[in-house]
Amino acid sequence: MVTGGARAVARCDALALPPFSDSAEGLTRTYLSPAYGATQEKLAEWMAEAGMTVRRDSAANLIGRYEGRVAHAPALVIGSHIDSVRNAGAYDGPLGIMLGIETVAALSSSGTQLPFAVEIYAFGDEEGSRFPAAMLTSRAVAGTLDPAALDVTDRDGVRLGDLVDLAAYPSAARAPGEVLAYLEAHIEQGPVLEAEGLALGTVTGIAAQLRFEIGLSGTAGHAGTTAMGLRRDAVAGMAEMVLAAEAVATAGPPDLVATVGVVEVPSGAANVIAGRSRFTLDVRAGDAGVRDRAADEVLRRFRDIAERRDLGLSVRQVHDLPASPCDPALMDLLEEATVAAGQRPFRLVSGAGHDAMIMAALCPTAMLFLRCRGGVSHNPAEYVEPADAEAALAVMSGFIKRLGAKLEPA
Ligand code: GLV
Ligand code: MN
Ligand code: MN
Repeated sequence: MVTGGARAVARCDALALPPFSDSAEGLTRTYLSPAYGATQEKLAEWMAEAGMTVRRDSAANLIGRYEGRVAHAPALVIGSHIDSVRNAGAYDGPLGIMLGIETVAALSSSGTQLPFAVEIYAFGDEEGSRFPAAMLTSRAVAGTLDPAALDVTDRDGVRLGDLVDLAAYPSAARAPGEVLAYLEAHIEQGPVLEAEGLALGTVTGIAAQLRFEIGLSGTAGHAGTTAMGLRRDAVAGMAEMVLAAEAVATAGPPDLVATVGVVEVPSGAANVIAGRSRFTLDVRAGDAGVRDRAADEVLRRFRDIAERRDLGLSVRQVHDLPASPCDPALMDLLEEATVAAGQRPFRLVSGAGHDAMIMAALCPTAMLFLRCRGGVSHNPAEYVEPADAEAALAVMSGFIKRLGAKLEPA
């Protein structure tokens, strides 16, 4: 018999191929793409089979609901994202949804009714791989979305407003009384659990994130006829800035990280000195003060470099996500469930961002991390052992049972 954990892993594998990927070579599934739609259709089928009623909200999240003992009871939301980075692995995001569906499937097949409903949220743009924004869909649900953030355009010139009704978008918000708590299972913890020899870990909190889009303007010119001293080269300036960001983060505490993940040279050509370049900058640390001081220093260096090279510099902040502690009482419940499932409890911080950090504005949150081979994520080589997924399911079911007992003591 296929266990729930093995089925969750196999379903992630199945969703890593067309039509659930926008690309035939490697998994890429961006917010509101054809693959995103196909994935929602398949998930809707699996949610319905597991005993849920299914709907799509105005932010294009897919939601399955398993009713509690009484109608309209507040819900424990179990969520994660279905969008991916470009050339992604199969599990970052979808595994949390599949584990949620399996958890509900186990409840409904045993006829278990709880003092709360369980809702599974498949969120949309956690990774921010299509539009220059991230976590719009969970921000809409948490009710923290600034409508100005919806004015975004992708690399092909498609505006978010061409795909969804922007005026209706914020109505995806849930009232605080409708949501009891939020639980997310995820793999993005690096090599920590593997090094500990553990399948699972309880997350204590999520690091603060800042993300920027940087633009440089110089003068386009002939690569053969413009002497080096006369150039205003937007690529050379960008290169110096990338290294400056790396130097600032390297000099800081171990949890301070700075990443330039996208570099672009619009109309670049081998024989043209670049007149324009743009790149992204992502800065994170467990403490928002450490992150902010590092980002200030990086941007100060960028301004110096731009001035020295006579380049125009534009800086646009894409997001500012505060550090988000998980709820201590929910962490305890997760740990109790971990011990009951025969696993050694272990707590760790998340350097990766998650929808949980947004949902924390709406309700108490908890996160369960799963071991992944080599600590690899954001890479096609992601791999999760089905046995670890099975262990995660046992802990999630134990967590739900304990949450129910807390609300309705025997
Ligand atoms: C998402 O994986 C992020 O941490 O940016
Ligand atoms: Mn990710
Ligand atoms: Mn993720």
